[in-house]
Amino acid sequence: MSENDLISSLASESRSFAPSAEFSRQANAQPEIYAHAAANPEAFWAEQAHALTWHKPFTKTLDWSDAPFAKWFDDGELNVAYNCLDRHVENGLGERVALFFEGEPGDTQVFTYATLTEAVKRAANVLADLGVTAGDRVAIYLPMIPEAIISMLAVARIGAIHSVVFGGFSADSLATRIQDAEAKLVITADGGYRKGKASALKPAVDEALSGNACPSVQHVLVVQRTGQSVEWFETTDIWWHEAMNKASSEHTAQAFAAENPLFILYTSGTTGKPKGILHTSGGYLTQAAFTHRNIFDLKPETDIYWCTADVGWITGHSYVAYGPLANGATQVIYEGTPDAPHPGRWWEIIQKYGVTILYTAPTAIRSFMKLGRQIPDAFDLSTLRVLGSVGEPINPEAWMWYRDVIGGGSAPIVDTWWQTETGAIMISPLPGITHTKPGSAQVPMSGIAADVVDDHGHSVANGHGGYLVISEPWPSMLRGIWRDPERFNETYWSRFHGQYFAGDGAKKDADGDIWLLGRVDDVMNVSGHRLSTTEIESALVSHHWVAEAAVVGARDELTGQAVVAFVILRQDEIADAGSDADISKILRDHVAKEIGPIAKPRQIMVVAELPKTRSGKIMRRLLRDVAEDRPIGDVTTLADSSVMNIISGKIAAGAND
Ligand code: WT7
Repeated sequence: MSENDLISSLASESRSFAPSAEFSRQANAQPEIYAHAAANPEAFWAEQAHALTWHKPFTKTLDWSDAPFAKWFDDGELNVAYNCLDRHVENGLGERVALFFEGEPGDTQVFTYATLTEAVKRAANVLADLGVTAGDRVAIYLPMIPEAIISMLAVARIGAIHSVVFGGFSADSLATRIQDAEAKLVITADGGYRKGKASALKPAVDEALSGNACPSVQHVLVVQRTGQSVEWFETTDIWWHEAMNKASSEHTAQAFAAENPLFILYTSGTTGKPKGILHTSGGYLTQAAFTHRNIFDLKPETDIYWCTADVGWITGHSYVAYGPLANGATQVIYEGTPDAPHPGRWWEIIQKYGVTILYTAPTAIRSFMKLGRQIPDAFDLSTLRVLGSVGEPINPEAWMWYRDVIGGGSAPIVDTWWQTETGAIMISPLPGITHTKPGSAQVPMSGIAADVVDDHGHSVANGHGGYLVISEPWPSMLRGIWRDPERFNETYWSRFHGQYFAGDGAKKDADGDIWLLGRVDDVMNVSGHRLSTTEIESALVSHHWVAEAAVVGARDELTGQAVVAFVILRQDEIADAGSDADISKILRDHVAKEIGPIAKPRQIMVVAELPKTRSGKIMRRLLRDVAEDRPIGDVTTLADSSVMNIISGKIAAGAND
């Protein structure tokens, strides 16, 4: 199927599912919300901000005078951690469960709002004792354990800035992020449990810091999770549990300005260097909490919410750490992989805790679909009442399977589009209102101005495709790229004047509903995780065998897209290399070591030439045709049109692994 056929088949989906009358009646969001927000979006967001507790109320809502650098609720002051913790305890909800933690080996921990608040107060004192103060950066490199959330909230509580680095990233990736943010402290663990084994984390921190590569780091706080042996550096390393035991459990939250930075989260862009996306406090928390309450229809007294994302990604920030806790929700967090120790583990967790709201990624749904419905069918999933999807377009088959097999044919599905940069959900159905269509994120949230525009930035008519833009500022928008205002302007604001360019292609169907069509830049989406083609190309050419590399994202049934790399080898260097298969394995492992296992190419194709334009630009479109096994498109702009025959001939001969 060509890309165009796929696009039209996607957005011609005609099925639509109305919410039940019963669901609609009890829903938090009622249809008036759209008109109410549209009448005065700023006033609407100010109203939502009042759901938070402000130490000092704001008098101004939006300051856009220094666009594209927004200020929301600028003269207000609040404490983010206080909003997620103390205020619930003060409201008499101390005994409510905040976190049900399920470790991969089956160990459990329960934190109520009272005990979570106490732990965060202690941790805040630990950080303060280590000299961390407002504005300092703290890198968090942890498995999905309660300490990850406690650390984030403790950093927020003292007005410092966290940079969570996903535990699957390599030592090099960690070092780059620590250096860019000049983190003063790293919080890590000995290891975590994954796929039935203790998997070490601390050695990556040791490697990242070795040779004084990260001179900003003064201390490393180490959580003992697995008990595996670790190398210990007396001058820097401190056990988390020892520090926590010594710390006082008294800590009064100070107020910080609404625009006080809350976190930096690195994400891949079109260059080799990840971007440090900067988020601040008041606007971010307002939109994270508002969307969480309305899109998932959260009833904090009765719902058990589970978002399967790791805190290393934005979803884990907004919809595990901040949104749910600001709303006083009870949630489940799970450390491990979906198939450990058996393929029904997720469904067992849903049955065990009586999960009512599930938020996960299409990749996971597709992998369960492949295993067959007999696995979830063996568990009681009847408590589920809202299902969410995030990270990549969800294909209609997976959507239907999710609805029928997991949602019992009745739970509404919310397909939520947003990005690390947007901070919170921007486009999504509302579960008691929208007639949902399998595969479409459909409607901008109330108060959000999203549109699809053509090459000239003009809104396209229904039935047409183009680029997704956001035309008005929103409270949880990024406030910039850490120490790189030029790149911020250039990446998001220069393509369409005055509008935020998201990097996604999209189409409006006949009803005006929005369908996301994937990235239009050199960014890939593998299992809902963003990867940069350039970053993987740099990793490949850093190996002495590789002269040139070109990476493309090829369609993949399970992961959405998969990394496919074309490499030209240096003949003088590969005398010592083995067969093509060994070369491929060694290069794939090299990428995993340089960036992390998530970036490992599915395939490496060794080629003699790469298709280039006369000006020397690699034509990735043609390589994508090869990688997706399609007839090769127009080659007229190639400097040497015979190159594609050589490449596809080589592949047909089975030279790839
Ligand atoms: C990119 C953002 C948002 C948290 C997870 C990913 C793609 C995200 C959807 C969706 C179609 C989606 C976009 C976007 N994306 N959600 N529901 N439908 N595409 O965050 O790493 O910042 O990636 O993910 O391409 O630009 P991220």
